[in-house]
Amino acid sequence: MGSANADLVVTVERRPAGGETVLGGDTVVMPGGKGANTAVAAGRIGASVSLLGAVGSDGYGSLLRDSLSSSGVDTSLLISSSRPTGIAYITVTPDGENSIVVSPGANSAVAPSDVDAVDWSSVRVLACSLEVPLETVAHAVSAAAAAGVRPVLNLSPVADLPAETLAVLDPLVVNEHEAAQLAPSFPALLDLGPKSVVVTLGARGAAVVTPAGVTEVAAPSVEVVDTTGAGDAFAGALSARLAAGDALEEAASYAVRVAALSVAKAGAQPSYPTAADLD
Ligand code: RIB
Ligand code: NA
Repeated sequence: MGSANADLVVTVERRPAGGETVLGGDTVVMPGGKGANTAVAAGRIGASVSLLGAVGSDGYGSLLRDSLSSSGVDTSLLISSSRPTGIAYITVTPDGENSIVVSPGANSAVAPSDVDAVDWSSVRVLACSLEVPLETVAHAVSAAAAAGVRPVLNLSPVADLPAETLAVLDPLVVNEHEAAQLAPSFPALLDLGPKSVVVTLGARGAAVVTPAGVTEVAAPSVEVVDTTGAGDAFAGALSARLAAGDALEEAASYAVRVAALSVAKAGAQPSYPTAADLD
């Protein structure tokens, strides 16, 4: 469950300061959004996955539906809203770094009642991110946990979650920046309540944090083209491998490889590998 956005991407030499104008390259429109990205990453490596989310009845909505379907993602839980499809305005600098403004649009319409329409009986893992309303995320995590489904939450962007939501996460997924906002050390992230935490470390891979300790998982080294959606690729692959029965460290080490391949190509969804690409 999560957002589906059209990513409007422009490359710039440097970002403009307030009141300044800079010229960039041609605009490229690509399917994105943290929820859709996560689902596509999981679908590409062969998981059976469905996206709970919302798009508008516009061209960007069709772009997203096509990307999801062609990656094997079921869209029967994807709502058609009267609001416009979410848009992410993304600038990418030559070092591959991005900055993003999201206009949520239809993503704001994903409601707790939509969660109640989910049949959890054949679901193993719920993967969520936070560009849909917080109360819907909290409700979905509780409903999943009550149904015996493993909730994985990518706390991006950082938000205040109820303690009972944090308590059932297995794992909570954050990047280094988010981890630093939440706790003074990796082990202290467990004090927030989750059963486990995975911290993504960019080029250095990821750290798996459980009550047994912290284990680092190394990433293969790649040439960075565009880091947009690398965290979502990680979360999707991690969730897919957990659903397939991998242990957390094993799943994290697979997910690090998926995320690494994704940063070597432009865009979010269009850059995600298949299982064959990984081989
Ligand atoms: O995490 C990357 C994503 O964030 C982009 O695809 C953009 O749509 C925003 O949601
Ligand atoms: Na990419």
